[in-house]
Amino acid sequence: MALHGPGGEDGTVQGLLEILGLPYTGSGVLGSALAADKVRSKWVFEAAGIPTPAFQVLEPGDGPGTVVLPAPLVAKPPAEGSTIGIAVARCAGEVAEAVAVARRHDPRVLVEAFVDGREVTLGVLDGEPLPLVEIVPEGGFYDYEAKYTPGRTRYLCPAPVEPAVARACERAGLAAYRALACSGGARVDLMVDRVGRPWVLEVNTIPGMTPTSLLPKAAAAAGLGFDGLVQKLLDGARTKTELGR
Ligand SMILES: Nc1ncnc2c1ncn2[C@@H]1O[C@H](COP(=O)(O)OP(=O)(O)O)[C@@H](O)[C@H]1O
Ligand SMILES: [Mg+2]
Repeated sequence: MALHGPGGEDGTVQGLLEILGLPYTGSGVLGSALAADKVRSKWVFEAAGIPTPAFQVLEPGDGPGTVVLPAPLVAKPPAEGSTIGIAVARCAGEVAEAVAVARRHDPRVLVEAFVDGREVTLGVLDGEPLPLVEIVPEGGFYDYEAKYTPGRTRYLCPAPVEPAVARACERAGLAAYRALACSGGARVDLMVDRVGRPWVLEVNTIPGMTPTSLLPKAAAAAGLGFDGLVQKLLDGARTKTELGR
């Protein structure tokens, strides 16, 4: 599985392959569908006791005046990726504009407390954590440009954080992967706040797999080269019916 976006990573193609009885890599129908919806992911995280930033869901028709979370906050379309449609409101006066930006992509908007701190991502391979990666965008925000323009962001692996912080990120990230019923390779995006607490943002069930992407970087830091990583992902390919899910 290397299909990004609607139909490819939301459980649709996975369901088709289940019916055809064809093995495939990565998460099954349930894990793919849950992870593709940031709102439902967060409901599961909360229910499972996994730290995720405080949030509020604006249904279609709920104006910015219904936002009760205090700024700074982040507004996101619940089913996008690549930081598309994500806007930060640094103060109350910026909330309406941030909600409007997210709404251009989805009538439902996820409003989330802004976590001031460092950004990390945890690669997970068959339920096992890979070394943590710290993401340091040059411009301060990990937006589309920072993600896909070479040189705009520094990636530090293993992340130069205190061992206790790395362990806490690992615990939270693995718990998120399990809570959403993920399998195979995945990547959990987290923020680490000023006192070293991890906050799970989302799980990516089809992480980028270019040679410069983050899952391959994390695997390399664990001594697993790109070909070895691809081989391991393929070795794990099966139908989820076989997995008993
Ligand atoms: N609550 C938050 N606090 C601080 N930064 C955030 C928050 N949510 C998202 N971001 C920033 O926006 C980026 C994209 O958000 P994310 O939820 O991972 O969505 P996606 O990667 O699917 O677009 C993150 O990598 C992070 O840099
Ligand atoms: Mg992300």
